[in-house]
Amino acid sequence: FRTLDDLDVAGQVVLVRADLNVPMADGRVTDATRIERLAPTLVELADRGAKVVVLSHFGRPKGKDPALSLAPLVAPLSAALGGRPVGFAVDCIGLPAAAVIDQLAPGGIALLENLRFHPGEEKNDPAFAKALAALGQLYVNDAFSAAHRAHASTEGLAHLLPSAAGRLMQAECEALAKALETPEKPVVAIVGGSKVSTKLDLLQNLVTKVDRLVIGGAMANTLLFARGVDVGASLCERDMAETCREIEAAAKAAGCTLILPVDAVVAAKLAAGVETATVAIDQVPSDRMILDVGPATVAAINAQLAEARTLVWNGPLGAFETPPFDAATVAVAREAARLTAEAGLVSVAGGGDTVAALAAAGVEERLTYVSTAGGAFLEWLEGRSLPGVEALRRR
Ligand code: 3PG
Repeated sequence: FRTLDDLDVAGQVVLVRADLNVPMADGRVTDATRIERLAPTLVELADRGAKVVVLSHFGRPKGKDPALSLAPLVAPLSAALGGRPVGFAVDCIGLPAAAVIDQLAPGGIALLENLRFHPGEEKNDPAFAKALAALGQLYVNDAFSAAHRAHASTEGLAHLLPSAAGRLMQAECEALAKALETPEKPVVAIVGGSKVSTKLDLLQNLVTKVDRLVIGGAMANTLLFARGVDVGASLCERDMAETCREIEAAAKAAGCTLILPVDAVVAAKLAAGVETATVAIDQVPSDRMILDVGPATVAAINAQLAEARTLVWNGPLGAFETPPFDAATVAVAREAARLTAEAGLVSVAGGGDTVAALAAAGVEERLTYVSTAGGAFLEWLEGRSLPGVEALRRR
């Protein structure tokens, strides 16, 4: 697809689809990563003389919900832009939007109100897409993390205006292609999280793409159970056992080695400060839960990483929000960061919890690439095409 390099933006109104769907508490942004990663695109466009109009959704409002206004994002956005002023329009289409855009000088930046206040956004209603298109001359999509949605601002608009990928969209697509489409082998994937059932398509796709697949988190319990291991009182989707055996068979057929925990940290319940024990995986007491993988498993995973050229990571290995059950995730994350720096490992991670876990381990900045995407990263791991990316390609 085209990038900012292919657009002549000076004096033009450029509609930039951003993803300002950031975590907030009490009206304050609690994690500004998405805003910071978007900023270079806006700065570049402004410095090249564009009139920059930022479009985004926020949350999942049903109609106009003042609690989900983008107005509180104006100040954090301005801060991420080094203090450049950011205008705000109380509606993303019609007169309020046009009036604010009319006031923009070349290099000026304005944010429009939450796209999802209009039902046409999520319905990808052509009339709503047209109303957005009427506001500007060029369209830039920089919202990789919303690219799994075929909405008016992520999909429809790309067909109505000359379009290009923003710098963040470009970086996300390049990093992900390097990790899974044209990777240096061997490729190791680490997949964690609590449920096999929510990551079935992902597992089925990954076994055909990677050389080794490490499974941790509570989802490993289900695979262990399917192998006949007694997982005690652990979280386990017993009705998924047959499906797990199918995944094992698919992995074998594709030549992908599955790596499951060989030991575990167990406790009577998931709570901070609870008494823990480390046991071999076939020695989990019937009244204990597996809450993290154990040190022998960490050593086995790290040995795999030492041989790998590429790592794709989604999902923590244990119940990382509750120490000490973050230990394995932290240890493996640090080893991945070390190998990235010292051995040229290409390490790519993404998905909501994953990024939080890596940030907690203090290695977020030290991997090759950490995606800003949650759901879009998962759909990409499932091998699905993302409508927002496809629409850019077709232009
Ligand atoms: C995200 O936060 O993953 C994206 O902004 C998409 O949000 P959505 O799941 O509400 O479409």
